Amino acid sequence: MNVLVLGSGGRESSIAWKIADSPLLKHLYCMPGNPGTASFATNVDCNLSDFDSIANHISDLSVDMLIVGPENPLVEGLTDFLHERIPSLMVIGPGREGAQLEGSKDFAKSFMAKYSIPTAAYRTFDATEFDDASAFLEQIKPPYVLKADGLAAGKGVIICQSIEEARQELSSMFGGRFGRAGAKVLIEEYLDGIELSVFVLTDGRDYLMLPHAKDYKRVGEGDTGPNTGGMGSVSPVPFADDFFMSKVEERIVKPTVRGIACEGMKYCGFIFIGLMNCGGDPYVIEYNVRMGDPESESVMRRIDSDLLKHLQAAAKGELSSEKIEVSPMSSVTVMAVSGGYPGSYGKGFPISGLDVDTGEDDTVIFHAGTKVSGADVVTSGGRVLAVTSLATSLDEARKASYRRLANISFEGIFYRSDIGCDLLDLK
Ligand code: AMP
Ligand code: GLY
Repeated sequence: MNVLVLGSGGRESSIAWKIADSPLLKHLYCMPGNPGTASFATNVDCNLSDFDSIANHISDLSVDMLIVGPENPLVEGLTDFLHERIPSLMVIGPGREGAQLEGSKDFAKSFMAKYSIPTAAYRTFDATEFDDASAFLEQIKPPYVLKADGLAAGKGVIICQSIEEARQELSSMFGGRFGRAGAKVLIEEYLDGIELSVFVLTDGRDYLMLPHAKDYKRVGEGDTGPNTGGMGSVSPVPFADDFFMSKVEERIVKPTVRGIACEGMKYCGFIFIGLMNCGGDPYVIEYNVRMGDPESESVMRRIDSDLLKHLQAAAKGELSSEKIEVSPMSSVTVMAVSGGYPGSYGKGFPISGLDVDTGEDDTVIFHAGTKVSGADVVTSGGRVLAVTSLATSLDEARKASYRRLANISFEGIFYRSDIGCDLLDLK
């Protein structure tokens, strides 16, 4: 099978890395990929919003399966477009309607209500309803959770401690702070608990549970400072034991997949369920229609069976007979980011230490924001490298990632030194 992975970040690097050694694989392409994927795949340059050009490349390269990494092309309808243009192509990633589970928080919440999936109570308002929204804030307790309905690159959720602040944020959101994404705003009950990222592969009828993970969103040590795309991840998570995960499966995963089937959505792909463990009970915070980043980097390391075979079964609607093998080992990803991230940062700094043999055979460096410049690999984004180690314990895995990072440098390099620390005492 010829496979094309769409995207260029750490998530896409890890998916491509995982399928690179599948016996079912003939040729692996990454579009556009990065210097890391170039070592085990062929990178193909292309503008990801140019669907025509993507389709032409797929035909020219005789691609059999496309795996869509990021959410934007899915929400913009890439899957439907390609099904029309190249009916024989297997596409991992839902059609436009299914992608609304991520593309519109209002759509996702109505879906959860319809299929009795536990989530925070909420109401949705548009700019003409500012007074109603303001009155609703008086009926609920702080903190107040405000969410832009549409895609806002992970920045569309604002948590306010006071009602005055919430009203101000509300008027700024209606005033265009998030552009069209903030045309509707959800006001939600605050969920107090610990977050977990749950991953499912579905063919729209059956599903396979992938390993779960925890993401570290804040830029600073001890979960301080602004939110980022994710500074690290851990899999598995000690509190997500079999008892908790069976509640997740029964109360959330099964009704979600049933809902997708009942609504007749064309959905072959990943579902990433962001949830909160509130006193032992799971509540959905959000759906994403793709893998998480940097969760994917940790998750891919723990899948022992052939992911490409599972993806093929999903594309053929044959997931019911698939069995996944998950490693009992622990995986820890630490993101090395550019100084200044998630604010403004410089680019183009040479990265050293990528090829040093440190004897850490169970550590993989997934490239994210990197590019080749002359003879160097240089930084080209906020999140630069995802250093992922697999070991018999969480503590060993985190130590291995930090040992490897000690040999890597670029101007302004920063990483959190406490990834996984909060979970060490929970065992
Ligand atoms: P989202 O983009 O929906 O994942 O939200 C971003 C982050 O905001 C989540 O990862 C949570 O940390 C937080 N968050 C979102 N909704 C809630 C909620 N209802 N209660 C508490 N925290 C929330
Ligand atoms: N790590 C969170 C996300 O991928 O949205």
